[in-house]
Amino acid sequence: MPNQSIITFKDVVKEYDDQPILNHVDFEIEKGKFYTLLGPSGCGKTTILRLIAGFTDATSGEIYLDGKKVNDIPANKRKVNTVFQDYALFPHMNVFDNVAFGLSIKKMAQQKIVEKVKEVLKMVQLSGYENREISEMSGGQRQRVAIARALANEPEVLLLDEPLSALDLKLRTEMQYELRALQRRLGITFIFVTHDQEEALAMSDEIFVINKGHIVQSGTPVDIYDEPINRFVADFIGESNIVKGNMMDDYRVKFVGKEFECVDAGMRENEAVEIVLRPEDLEITAVEKGKLKVKVDTQLFRGVHYEIVCSDTDQNEWVIHSTKKAKIGAEVGLYFNPEDIHVMRFNETEEEFDARLEAYEEE
Ligand SMILES: Nc1ncnc2c1ncn2[C@@H]1O[C@H](COP(=O)(O)OP(=O)(O)OP(=O)(O)O)[C@@H](O)[C@H]1O
Ligand SMILES: [Mg+2]
Repeated sequence: MPNQSIITFKDVVKEYDDQPILNHVDFEIEKGKFYTLLGPSGCGKTTILRLIAGFTDATSGEIYLDGKKVNDIPANKRKVNTVFQDYALFPHMNVFDNVAFGLSIKKMAQQKIVEKVKEVLKMVQLSGYENREISEMSGGQRQRVAIARALANEPEVLLLDEPLSALDLKLRTEMQYELRALQRRLGITFIFVTHDQEEALAMSDEIFVINKGHIVQSGTPVDIYDEPINRFVADFIGESNIVKGNMMDDYRVKFVGKEFECVDAGMRENEAVEIVLRPEDLEITAVEKGKLKVKVDTQLFRGVHYEIVCSDTDQNEWVIHSTKKAKIGAEVGLYFNPEDIHVMRFNETEEEFDARLEAYEEE
């Protein structure tokens, strides 16, 4: 096992009442990085965190922390701490007592507790708040208390289960920056759960996209955004236009009755595929300059750009983000570059996908 990995899941299955919730999940988590588990409600994100923390047992498979198998190690013996969505703070206790709680249980000496609480409150920028009651603090401050409490236990891994979902947009964005900065400063591994794709893209070193108890794709935000493995990921991460097509040859794809140069290869001749084009990669131009001819149906101003919806002769809808206004009802051209065309195969697994990319990158 590579010594960098701090958590490893090997073929982990979790069933509740004989129903599979996690299906043969495999992954490795490296030390000191910011990971995000991203997926729709009920896909199994919290279950993965609970398995890491030791709050529930795997039905089968192996879980390793720091190279040691921990399936039979209880939660309090794992160097992992969790920050829950509702923070689970004691509302009638002050900040000091909340943060010190776990340390008192561990029977740490009082002087040491005082020092530790001071240290972690400083980390989350709440120095001097020791005597404040939880009920007198804002949502963002409560959240920092919850993080301080988790950090007081000196975890190697911090698990954060949708910790920002209760906050308003402005505070949420602020906390995204703060959490990311805190993770960099401390250098501990963060595993953050969200179903908000923008949050995942903004914060993570690595994202695991999860659907129905499977990790569908893992990679850096840029990898996942640029090369979604299938329709689910393309749809879930960012807005996309998805149409059906066929691979004519390496680097040649056909859709809406026309052939285009693309950057994908390694598929069967004439293989049926799906094509993703991101709204920000499409440019509206004169019909004769465009690669596709479309008609402008609707247009909305979205603050930074216009969202323009067009349709082609096959009745596919095309969403375009443009800083220029279009004319409703006008026939226009759509221009895009070969590298803006993302080709996805049906039912390709992540291993197959990676192997195919590698084979073609080596050429
Ligand atoms: N203790 C339990 N007993 C039975 N089923 C459970 C239990 N805990 C979770 N489940 C089921 O397991 C599935 C995954 O749940 P989980 O809480 O991991 O989802 P999630 O991805 O965290 O969703 P959300 O975004 O809504 O929090 C759901 O269908 C849920 O109903
Ligand atoms: Mg959950």
